[in-house]
Formats: sequence, C-alpha cells, structure tokens
Amino acid sequence: MVKQASEQGLKWYQDVRFGMFIHWGPSAVPARHDWIMAAESISVPDYEQYTRQFNPTKFNADEWVSVAADAGQKYIVFTSRHHDGFSMYDTALSDYKITNTAFGRDPARELADACARRGDIKLGFYNSLLDWHHPAYRFREESGLAWSDYLEFLHGQVRELCTNFGEIACMWFDGHWPNHQFDEEHQYFMAGGSFEYEKLYNMIHTLQPDATVLNNHHAQPQPGEDVQGFEQDLPGMNTTGWQNLEISSLALEVCMTINDHWFYIRGSDNHKSLRSLVHYLARAASAGANYLLNVGPNEEGVINPIHVARLQGIGAWLQANGESIYGTRAGVIEPTASAVSTRNGDTHYVHLLDYISDSVTLAGVPDSVNAAHLLVSGDAVPMERTDKGVVITVPAAQRDPLNTVVVLS
Ligand code: GLC
Repeated sequence: MVKQASEQGLKWYQDVRFGMFIHWGPSAVPARHDWIMAAESISVPDYEQYTRQFNPTKFNADEWVSVAADAGQKYIVFTSRHHDGFSMYDTALSDYKITNTAFGRDPARELADACARRGDIKLGFYNSLLDWHHPAYRFREESGLAWSDYLEFLHGQVRELCTNFGEIACMWFDGHWPNHQFDEEHQYFMAGGSFEYEKLYNMIHTLQPDATVLNNHHAQPQPGEDVQGFEQDLPGMNTTGWQNLEISSLALEVCMTINDHWFYIRGSDNHKSLRSLVHYLARAASAGANYLLNVGPNEEGVINPIHVARLQGIGAWLQANGESIYGTRAGVIEPTASAVSTRNGDTHYVHLLDYISDSVTLAGVPDSVNAAHLLVSGDAVPMERTDKGVVITVPAAQRDPLNTVVVLS
C-alpha cells in the first residue's frame, strides 16, 4: 500500500490554489536555453565553468517571498536540483552544490527561513529525477557505479529535503519521460532502472504527512501521487499536443511560464499579458486546478521586473476577488468560451472573461441559486431563468477589464 498525503494536507493544497514556481540555477549564467547542457551538447567540465561564475549576490529570499505573497501566492516550488545536477542547497550527498561556490550561501535554506518568518507561505521542492552530472546516472559504465548508487543519491536528497527545511508544501518531480528517445551519445534520458516510486513516495508521506507529491511524467498518475500535473496547459485541453491526459480524480495543478521559458533566458520577452494570466488562474480554478506560475530569476538573483509587475497585478485582482479563487473547487455551471465558474458549497462564482454581449446565458446553474450580485461592489445583478439557462446582465460600466466576478447563490 502506497501512502498518500494527509487529508488536511491535501485540503490546504487545494484551498490555496495559487503558487510560485522558481526555476533557478547556473544555467542563468549563459541564459540561452532551459536545457542548455543537452541543447548545446555541453560537456560536464564546460558546464562546471558556469557554476563557478554563478555568484548571485543580489539574491534576497525575503524579497522573493514577498513578491509571491503580494501576488496572492501561498506556496513556492523551488528547483533544489534541476537536470544539470547542480544542487541549489547544501546537500551532504554531493560536492556539486551552490554552497561550494564563491556565493557560498544556501538559497533553499534562506527561502525556507523567509517563509517561516512570514508564516503565510510554504516552501516545496522541485527535484529532477534525471541528472546530467551524476556519474551513477550518466557515466555509469565509465564510473563503475550501479543504478542503485544513483537511486541512493536521489532518495537520499529527497530525504534531506523532507528533513532539513521544516514542514514543506510538496515534492515536485520532473525528468521521467517514458516516451523520450534514448540519446546514445549523451545518455541524456537514460533511466537504468525504476525510480522506485513506491519507496520514494512512502518516505515522503512518512516524513512529511501533509506534503503533496506530483510527478510531471506526462502519464496517468501512479499510486502515491496526490496531484496530477498539467504543464503549460489547462486540464484536458492538450494544446501542447504531448499531454493527452485523462483528468484523474486527484487534485490538479497547472504549471506555466510567464514568458516562453522556465529559466532565465536573455531576450525571452514574449510575456503573457496580465489579463491572460488572470484568465489562466480563473480557468485553472474553474477546472479544479492550482495555478503554479513560474519565474526564472537571473544570474544575479533578480526576478524579471516585468514578471514582478504581472504578479503585483494578479495580487491586486486577488485582493478584491480572492473569495472566487481561494477555497473553491471546480465549477458546476457549464463553461462557455467567455465565462467559467468556481464553487464554494452552494455559492457559485461566475468569472466573466470576455464580453460578447451585456447578457450572458449560463447552463447548468443549480436550482438553489436565486440571486446574483457583483463580488466587488455587492451590487445586485439582474438574473432571469429562461429555457436556455440563467441569463445575467452586466453593463459595461460595471465590468472589471481583467475579470468580473458575479456571485450566484
Ligand atoms: C519541463 C521542462 C523542464 C521544466 C519542467 C517544469 O519538463 O523540460 O525543464 O523544469 O517542464 O514543468
């Protein structure tokens, strides 16, 4: 029997609905590609140069955590080790780590402390399953090491993350793609055996009973996983083309970038608009999913000011409209191209995202609903039951250009 997260842990996770993903590491030095080692076939010694140049002296954990908190985000998922194999915390299991650089500080520790100081935001960890640096993963034949040596390292690191940072929000795994081609020359996607998920997940759920487990493997959930993840996509949409996942009965999460990259990439300036980010948040919540929105701080430790501004904008919208997101579950009112809904018990929140006309017809509104009002002003909204559904009318002057929420109860 594989353990799951506790009921209260799962409830907390689903109630908070909005988190910050942070992709950060030495690849912010070259800043050319999320997977620069693989994309440019960079050797381990050559990549290690970047780790020596990485000295992000402007990193300030309290500032980052404040950016997340001001955005209304309630958890942070931080890359403790990405595919490059460089640990962004003071692991006892490898010398290839940030505390062995000129920078010398432990950002995971500082983030955990900053979260603890505030108390309204929890830290969780992204951990890569694959490792392009570890000899037992990538250079097994040359090193004479065994797959079990890699597993010991991977599970050992997860144990550290579940032991050394207080209560964590979640463990977020990435890097197991069963459909990927094996790259003979670089052995990039090689997995010499199973990752022993049952053992791994049981350990997490024993050490951190409230923490949720998500594995971004792009396949149907496996025993012991608490959250089904959708990458750069809303549940069930499969707009990416490679994630044709059936929506499971697990808690759901959508992770997404603000521009087109996870890490800091110079010139990656295709930023989503504030409006579109607020819409994604509402659409994710309406599908019963958390929204994990990414920032990729640069080589100095600075979050892109454009992303900070976007996050502030979302925070301002949430400040007024948070009731329609936090603590809600998937909507029962039929979504249309321009309106989605969330629900908290018998209260239904209709998110009007686009206006085709002043009147919106909603199908599937429960019989218990007999009144409508604007969430922010409290003003009554005219509501009429017709053959086609409930018609609500919100004139232009009453609309929020980002997303107008109408409460039906
Ligand atoms: C993808 C990317 C990986 C990134 C992850 C975050 O799997 O390949 O680099 O960390 O998405 O969701």
